[in-house]
Amino acid sequence: MSQFDLIKDIAKFGLENDQDRLLSVLNELIEYSKKTKKINFALQLQSILKEGLRQNTSSLTKVGSDSYYNRLEDKEFNDLILEKLTSDYTLNNLVANENVKEELALFIKEHKSSDILRKFDLPISNKILLHGPSGCGKTLASYAIAGELKKMMIVVNLGAIVSSKLGETSKNLAKIFRKATAENCIVFIDEFDSLGKVRDYSQDHGEMKRVVNTMLQLFDYLPQDSILIAATNQKDMLDDALLRRFDVNLKLDLPNERQIGELINLTLKNGHFNLPDKSTIKSITKEALGLSYFSIQKTLITAIKRSIFEDVENQVLRVPVVDVKVWKSLITTEKIALHIP
Ligand SMILES: Nc1ncnc2c1ncn2[C@@H]1O[C@H](COP(=O)(O)OP(=O)(O)O)[C@@H](O)[C@H]1O
Ligand SMILES: [Mg+2]
Repeated sequence: MSQFDLIKDIAKFGLENDQDRLLSVLNELIEYSKKTKKINFALQLQSILKEGLRQNTSSLTKVGSDSYYNRLEDKEFNDLILEKLTSDYTLNNLVANENVKEELALFIKEHKSSDILRKFDLPISNKILLHGPSGCGKTLASYAIAGELKKMMIVVNLGAIVSSKLGETSKNLAKIFRKATAENCIVFIDEFDSLGKVRDYSQDHGEMKRVVNTMLQLFDYLPQDSILIAATNQKDMLDDALLRRFDVNLKLDLPNERQIGELINLTLKNGHFNLPDKSTIKSITKEALGLSYFSIQKTLITAIKRSIFEDVENQVLRVPVVDVKVWKSLITTEKIALHIP
């Protein structure tokens, strides 16, 4: 079935209020999008679907039945997480220095080859901290780990957990870890530093200690085949004892010239779009130093789109060539906006 057929079915079942068939076609479209490498679209659809299911409480369940309790528990749990997803990303989607890529590859290997390590009674690294400036691939790296290991990943909404009632934070954390280990999911805690905010939310100084202690315990009792990924751009905010518990500690930094070059190639999809010539690439790479991968990619994609529009308007038929002047001015604007000299 083509994606247009799927979209027609979605319209039809949606209008007919036929929820079961609507869900099944949506899932088909998600699978189809993954297969055709429209990963972002697939992830977005997945989260729309999940949000829809979360809000849909219209159908009746018998009070006291198993499904009633499951639903209560699921609803409570869903409020604590942002997403539950699978990913098709791999390490090839990530640009980083050799050391970081090697460490990530080894971390993944430990889980792919856990049998061997177990045979020799060796521990498996399963707690990894990703830190560094925003837009340099912490979230992307976590998707790549999930994608390489083909595991579900739970993205934890730390903000929601921490701002809840006094004493609840520890309970919430424990709940998430229990569920994740039961379902063999990766736990991804983004903005890990917001644990430090417990201090601001609560008058009780014991609360912060309690939360950190809970976290330490959860870390210590995390089963070997479970994985915890934490990300932060404020590593300094983290408690030392907590920091020490991570098996792997990686900094994802701003790109240097070579890495900017790699990012450009990746974004130009190895020839789907072109840059005019080598010397312009060199000069614009220098221009882009200081910006994050995210900013560089964003400005390049905008420039690509504008160049395509230009070609269409001028009725030029060719592999789109990025208008470097446009890209340069976008980079300058971005730098000004972010106060980068
Ligand atoms: N190291 C990188 N390699 C390739 N693309 C990157 C990298 N870092 C960021 N990007 C691009 O920017 C987007 C946002 O990055 P993200 O992983 O969310 O950054 P962070 O979590 O560190 O703030 C990514 O989805 C990707 O498109
Ligand atoms: Mg992120």
